[in-house]
Amino acid sequence: MTPGDLSTRIEGAIDAALDRATARRAPAGLAAAMIHAVKPGGARIRPTICLSVAAACGADRADADAAGVAIELIHCASLVHDDLPCFDDASVRRGKPSVHVAFGQPLAVLAGDSLIVAGFEAAGRAAPARALPLVMELAHRTGMPGGICAGQGWESEPAIDLATYHEAKTGALFIAATRMGAIAAGHDPEPWTELGSRIGRAFQVADDLLDVLRPEAETGKPAGQDERRGRPSAVVEHGIDGATRLLEDTLSGAIASIPACPGEAALAAMVRRTAQALTPAHRRTPAE
Ligand code: IPE
Ligand code: IPE
Ligand code: MG
Ligand code: MG
Repeated sequence: MTPGDLSTRIEGAIDAALDRATARRAPAGLAAAMIHAVKPGGARIRPTICLSVAAACGADRADADAAGVAIELIHCASLVHDDLPCFDDASVRRGKPSVHVAFGQPLAVLAGDSLIVAGFEAAGRAAPARALPLVMELAHRTGMPGGICAGQGWESEPAIDLATYHEAKTGALFIAATRMGAIAAGHDPEPWTELGSRIGRAFQVADDLLDVLRPEAETGKPAGQDERRGRPSAVVEHGIDGATRLLEDTLSGAIASIPACPGEAALAAMVRRTAQALTPAHRRTPAE
């Protein structure tokens, strides 16, 4: 499957889940706020990873789609809540007004809530033997004590360990992406944890670098947020060069950590593309 085919498939599966959630006699404002939060998307990196792992493990298409959509809806929900005035107070996301700016805070809170529920519903639509383990994995990576909620919760603590904070805030959903890809195929998810963890760690360091290196016009979200909000970040802790080295070290072990599986070569190609996309432009070698 080419990256283009994969992306068409992901959008189709997301549209089907959104149609289900916004159909019939749904309140129009809340339905529009949910759609605004999800469409058009960003890089869709988490479902791309999930579907690639699922394909490498030989999962049925419907089960893989259920897992990938579930993760992306939870991710979109987390961004809606993250942008609220009580969190990062960010007025732009993906180059558009953030949901609370466009629809007001009550509908932004409800859109995030509804997308979380829609995410769990999507996972629950997998085949009966797959649905429960997918839902349990998603719950584990979304809530407390180690999921996204925990990650956001660390921002209200007086002292934060950067690695623990990143692992929960961002790493958890990348770990969900690799593990749920394996679960969708009926495989043991354990060997897939390291790959998700490495990509997630690298991704957050790359996001911290983007926050200081790139303007809003390029990222579609406000620049310099971490320093302005006093957030711990890899750049604050290690400097730009140190954070870039950390990013490269983390990525170099990612491909080596891919477990043996039927589609290992294609998956390694996807991880290489992801690594290249995350590496700051000035550090890429000409051969890449
Ligand atoms: C942004 O995630 C939030 C972080 C975890 C750093 P993405 O950069 O994947 O956001 P979109 O979905 O592509 O907009
Ligand atoms: C958002 O983290 C990650 C979530 C779990 C919601 P950030 O606040 O660092 O991400 P951006 O920079 O707003 O996308
Ligand atoms: Mg935040
Ligand atoms: Mg933010």
